[in-house]
Amino acid sequence: MAKVIWDPAIGELYKIKELCAERGVDEDIQNRLSDAITTAEAREAYCESVSSDPSEVLTAIQSETLVFPFEEAYKDGKTKLKLFSGMLSGHFFGKFLQSIVSMSKAKRVLEIGTFTGYATLAFAEALPEDGTVTTLDIEPYLDEVAKNAFAKSRHGKKIAIRIGDAKETLLKLSEEKAQYDVVFIDANKAGYVNYFKTVMEKDLLAKGGTIVFDNALWYGSAYDDKSAQENGHEIRKFNEYLKSRDDMFRVLVPIRDGALIVRRKEDVFL
Ligand SMILES: C[S@@+](CC[C@H](N)C(=O)[O-])C[C@H]1O[C@@H](n2cnc3c(N)ncnc32)[C@H](O)[C@@H]1O
Repeated sequence: MAKVIWDPAIGELYKIKELCAERGVDEDIQNRLSDAITTAEAREAYCESVSSDPSEVLTAIQSETLVFPFEEAYKDGKTKLKLFSGMLSGHFFGKFLQSIVSMSKAKRVLEIGTFTGYATLAFAEALPEDGTVTTLDIEPYLDEVAKNAFAKSRHGKKIAIRIGDAKETLLKLSEEKAQYDVVFIDANKAGYVNYFKTVMEKDLLAKGGTIVFDNALWYGSAYDDKSAQENGHEIRKFNEYLKSRDDMFRVLVPIRDGALIVRRKEDVFL
């Protein structure tokens, strides 16, 4: 599996390192460059090592996802989307999400974008016995993949998977008068504005609730033109839209690919 580099400055250091080698730059400078990359990369690994360990089932989901034959599944027509293992939230981000759920004493969590179920189960583990996670995905194939993983955990019973385009499933949830204390939005980036508006306008976010958007930095392309990536403009558009919402409290946390935490202002400044 190819290494995922979230910080474009580290990506640039790798390119400079290659250039230095090609051009035969002084070895001392090349070594110092390598040291700089190692130090920059050690930061997240260190944070992860100090954070609590994941459960055995979460560890298994992570390692199975890293070697999962997504390309084959796509070629065989089992998935419509080209999924890849880098979509996984994983250990460090999972601990971050569990902190949000436990600090807010949430009981009902909604996730948009199940994938192999890492964040879903992480949420379920941090919820009380009567807590629930509703997770939405468009790929029927993932229903089975995730369900098999959840069946191995005693927290799996708290999880309900809803398959279909999240745009429509959200409307169904609103007809069912569902409400959530934490909403985690992590599906197609082009859908973020619609998901946010539907959650707010259809009253899916409970009073005092929190929304977390993953990938708010999108490999740096949210703020760095040189790092332009597919979907980068969607994330920029979304971040700009949220900035225009004076009624919302926002903080963009530079963890992994950026977690944008959003709450109603009236719930923060009482
Ligand atoms: C980045 S992955 C989610 C990762 C997951 N939350 C985790 O923590 O491991 C994005 C998921 O969104 C799903 N998705 C994409 N477009 C969607 C849509 N329109 N409605 C529902 N799910 C969608 C994809 O099938 C994929 O599984």
